[in-house]
Amino acid sequence: MDQVWSDHKEFLSEAEIQIQKGLHSKVALVNKVTHHILNSGGKRIRPLLLIISAHLCNYLDKERIYLAGGVVEFIHTATLLHDDVIDNAEIRRGIAPARILWGNQASILVGDYLYTLALSHAVQMDNFEINDLLATTCLRMAEGETLQLSHNGDLNLTEATYLEIIEYKTAMLISASCRLGAIIAKAPEAKKDALSRFGKNIGIAFQVADDTLDYVADGDRLGKSLGEDLKEGKITLPLLHLLHHCKKEDRRWLNAVMDAERFEQDDLKKVIALMQSHGSIDYAVKKAQGYTEDAKAALAVFPDSPQRRSLMTIADYVVQRDY
Ligand code: IPE
Ligand code: IPE
Ligand code: MG
Ligand code: MG
Repeated sequence: MDQVWSDHKEFLSEAEIQIQKGLHSKVALVNKVTHHILNSGGKRIRPLLLIISAHLCNYLDKERIYLAGGVVEFIHTATLLHDDVIDNAEIRRGIAPARILWGNQASILVGDYLYTLALSHAVQMDNFEINDLLATTCLRMAEGETLQLSHNGDLNLTEATYLEIIEYKTAMLISASCRLGAIIAKAPEAKKDALSRFGKNIGIAFQVADDTLDYVADGDRLGKSLGEDLKEGKITLPLLHLLHHCKKEDRRWLNAVMDAERFEQDDLKKVIALMQSHGSIDYAVKKAQGYTEDAKAALAVFPDSPQRRSLMTIADYVVQRDY
């Protein structure tokens, strides 16, 4: 994966210049928050996917790639500002999130600012197909987060609904990032669709991996604290599997843990032990790998090339990553 990042260093740094250029508001607080969220070590996986997808389809217009790379990262960071308020996050990327430093109100308002900044950059591309795709993506993301909220603490959440939530809140933007690369390169429909499908499947795998890491990662490396989903009553795939396979009394106990005012580290340890003994972590990892395989299969329409190999590497990386 390190090779993939370094192969695309030049394009990524041009997209980075584009990102930084966008961050000049007259309002000091806007600048403080946008600089914090955009310069605290995000991986830039969405711009990277866009760049590689455009290359794979023999891109023509470099400027548009940089601009669009900035747009998808602005949308992503806007959702993170909002997400950390919704999730009461106390740490992101190893440091205090904007909501801790400047408060929930600032975090929400600057999230709106970044969404709108993305919109204004997108409009500059003067392309209906791009605007349409981005508008639909943002709608789905908001729906995904809201659907998730409406199932908070719902022990009867089904796997189908869980998958719908993560497709909307996470996979749509990753899929759109890939498709945008193809649109900018004026690729035929079949290639656009293949890249959308690739992105959607790695996006689902990415979120399942994220949800698994919430239980089993090295917290320092992940830059987030563990057990957050359980603490917030958010039922993700490992817990969903456990709830469907554990004894009735464990299910009752899990419900009480999610409802409890205080969250004890020992409870988290017990939940993880139950997950290990019921194969819930393995189940989630296998599920993520299945989506990775579907993602790779979508690339069959492209002949072998360094870009296609890079996408294959990213597909493996999203499930093997440890942060
Ligand atoms: C985090 O996304 C939010 C999820 C969709 C799980 P990333 O892991 O891409 O976040 P950064 O930008 O690299 O921190
Ligand atoms: C990520 O969701 C944010 C969006 C996809 C909008 P999560 O809440 O699951 O991710 P982290 O763990 O905070 O990064
Ligand atoms: Mg969160
Ligand atoms: Mg969240």
